[in-house]
Amino acid sequence: MKTALLQQLACPVCRGGLALNDVQARDDQEVLTGLLRCEACGRGYPVAGGIPDLRSPDGREREQRIGRTYGYVWSRSRQAGGRTVPSRLHIERVRETAAGLEIQGPWALEIGCGPGRDIAALAAEYPGIQWIGMDIHAAWPELAALARQRSNLHFVRGSALAAPFPAQRFGFAYSYGVLHHTPDPEQGFRELVRVLAPGRAFAVYLYEAHEGSPAKRAALAAVTVVRGLTRRLPPTLLYGLCTLASPLVVLCFSWPARLLSWFPGSRALSARIPFHFGRGLFSLTTDLYDRFGSPIERRYTAAELQGWYRRAGLDARLAHPADVAGWIGWGWKRDGWGAPESAVTASQQAGGGG
Ligand SMILES: C[S@@+](CC[C@H](N)C(=O)[O-])C[C@H]1O[C@@H](n2cnc3c(N)ncnc32)[C@H](O)[C@@H]1O
Repeated sequence: MKTALLQQLACPVCRGGLALNDVQARDDQEVLTGLLRCEACGRGYPVAGGIPDLRSPDGREREQRIGRTYGYVWSRSRQAGGRTVPSRLHIERVRETAAGLEIQGPWALEIGCGPGRDIAALAAEYPGIQWIGMDIHAAWPELAALARQRSNLHFVRGSALAAPFPAQRFGFAYSYGVLHHTPDPEQGFRELVRVLAPGRAFAVYLYEAHEGSPAKRAALAAVTVVRGLTRRLPPTLLYGLCTLASPLVVLCFSWPARLLSWFPGSRALSARIPFHFGRGLFSLTTDLYDRFGSPIERRYTAAELQGWYRRAGLDARLAHPADVAGWIGWGWKRDGWGAPESAVTASQQAGGGG
């Protein structure tokens, strides 16, 4: 943990400021072991392996289980040198869709940063912004190593539902594929809006409910039944099964979709094929693990997400690009946060409802 990070942190329970005590190990760049103590309520939060652990002591067991599930896959996918994840960065997809999105500092946040791919790329692209990646998972040695490579990159272990940051602190807040895996996604969204500075932009990605497609809903219902069993498997076994299944899915879905995409007339069709984004034979391993291992998965209609915007008092947009199985939402927090409902707008691209 770089000491500059301290000013951006707050107690996840009472939002009091934190003081750094009991530093037991540090080097010229980072505090490696120590204790952060809330100056208001006195709660203590450890810094271990260079990462502050700001999970709320009241955090739910379900969240901790999610952390263990994802911690396993992120440490495995790093060991595999990135071969087990699709090559494209998620933030690229968001930027293609979210017209007018402006990434600003001086501090920016990714909620649910996973293995840190997007945020590491953003930190390299925007060296003048200090980037914080927060996630609840336990694959910290990997992220601590990443933080050491850049002076503007920081990681925090914490929950989207009780974000350990003061209000109105970030020039940009981003969360891709995270909130729908939490026990209370709308609370996570409220937290993202709370920590965003007035006038600044956010972007999120959330799974869709496929309300206009009975066939997709049926396929999803079947996956949900299977997931009821697979999410109970030990992570090692599930990861092994996903490694075996990935080449099959790539051969049956991804490569035929890629072939189709070479013909201009069938590009739209290609983008609708599930798993069209797979590349190498093992590139879908983590995606399958996510699909079949996540303890919680919720899906949303456009109307439901517009309800989030309305209740948060946001000017915001919602789009459904044809080749993404979900919603990309983005917008700006107005100066009068909590303002009336009339400000909601929604734009739809191909394939969206609402
Ligand atoms: C599907 S992954 C997405 C990771 C990353 N955003 C990306 O685009 O690659 C979901 C991530 O959400 C994290 N997550 C789940 N519940 C969370 C919570 N309550 N607070 C913070 N992160 C959470 C998981 O640990 C996991 O890393």
